[in-house]
Amino acid sequence: MSTPATAPRTGSVEPFEVRPSSNPRTVAEREAMLAALGFGVDFTDHMARATWTPADGWHERRVEAYAPLLLDPAAAVLHYAQEIFEGMKAYAHPDGSVWTFRPEANAARFARSALRLALPVLSQEDFLESIRALVNVDAEWVPTTPGSSLYLRPFMFASESFLGVRAAQRVDYLVIASPVGPYFPSGIKPVSIWLTRDIKRAAPGGTGDAKCGGNYAASLLPQAQASEKGFDQILFTDSTDSHLEELGGMNVFVIGKDGTASTPRLTGSILEGVTRSSIITLLSERGFDVQERDIPVEELIEGVRSGEVTEVFACGTAAVVTPIGRLAGEGFDLTVGEGEAGETTQWVYQTLTDIQYGRAEDTHGWLTRLV
Ligand code: COI
Repeated sequence: MSTPATAPRTGSVEPFEVRPSSNPRTVAEREAMLAALGFGVDFTDHMARATWTPADGWHERRVEAYAPLLLDPAAAVLHYAQEIFEGMKAYAHPDGSVWTFRPEANAARFARSALRLALPVLSQEDFLESIRALVNVDAEWVPTTPGSSLYLRPFMFASESFLGVRAAQRVDYLVIASPVGPYFPSGIKPVSIWLTRDIKRAAPGGTGDAKCGGNYAASLLPQAQASEKGFDQILFTDSTDSHLEELGGMNVFVIGKDGTASTPRLTGSILEGVTRSSIITLLSERGFDVQERDIPVEELIEGVRSGEVTEVFACGTAAVVTPIGRLAGEGFDLTVGEGEAGETTQWVYQTLTDIQYGRAEDTHGWLTRLV
C-alpha cells in the first residue's frame, strides 16, 4: 500500500468529466452577484473535485454542481487539521480571453504543502486541468469590472473517518471559484499594522512554509487583538522575536531611501509567496538592490523613525499589494513615509496588475490562458 507522500504521479492529463449543474443561477441572478462583488462570499455554479485512496490513487475527477459536502463527523480533517490550500485568480483580458498567473508555481507549492502535511501529491497536470476545466464551465462568472477577478481556491483535506492520529487513507481535492472585487474595498489605500511579538505564527521545522489552514487559524487571535486596538492587520516576528516574518496572510517588503528593497528570506517558516517572487523579479529589473535577508525588528522601527525606510508594503494573491501607512507595537506608533501609498508601492501594483490583466506585455511568460 502506498503512503500518501509517495503516491504515484499520473504524468498524463486525465480529463475532469463535466457534469453540468441542473440548477445553475439565472443570468439575472449571476449579473446581480457580479454587480456587487465582495471577497469570497459568492461562488460559481460548479466546483472541480477528485478523490484519493491508496488503492486507486487520484480518481473520480469531475466538475460538478457547487454543493455542500457530505462529511462524516469523524473525518480526520475536523480533528487534526490535515488540510492545505492555494489562492489563485483568473483574469478577464480586454479581448474576452481568460488567463491565470504562474499556476505552475501554485501547483509546485501545493505539492510541497501536501508532502509536509502527509497528504498525497496531486500532479501539476491534474492541478492545472482542474482549474482549466472549472473556469471553462463557469467562464461567464469571470468578472470584468476594474480590479475584479475570479478567485480560485484549490484545497485538499483528509476525509477518511478515523480518529487515530495518522495520515488519512482517503483524501478529497476540490477547487471552488468566487468572483471577487478588491480584497480591501478601500483599494490601494494604506493599512495600519500592529507588530505582534508575543504570539508566533510559525517556528523552524514547523508548517510555516506550507499553505495549510492551521497557520491561518493561528493568526486569528492576534488579528482579533489587533483589531480591538484599531489596527487593520498584524505583522509577525520570527520564533526568536528578532526578525520580521510575515503578516497574517501576506509577505512583506521594506523599501529603503538607499535603493534597497528587502524582504524576509525564506527560512522555512515563511510562506513562499508567488506574488512575493514576482515582485522580487520586477523590482530587480527596475534597478532596486533586492535583498532577501533577515530583517531585524529594531532596524525596521529605527528606519521608519529616521526616514531611511520610505515605504513598507504587504503582498499576496488576494490583496496584490497593500501599502502599510502606520506601524505600531508595544512602545511605538509610527507613520511610514507620508502615510500614503508610496511611489514604489504604486509602481509595483500597477506593473503587476497590468501584466495580469493583459494591459502590458507578459515578457516573463507568467500567464497561462484558460479560456
Ligand atoms: C491569498 O492571497 O490568496 C491567500 O491565500 C491569503 C488569504 C486570502 C488567506
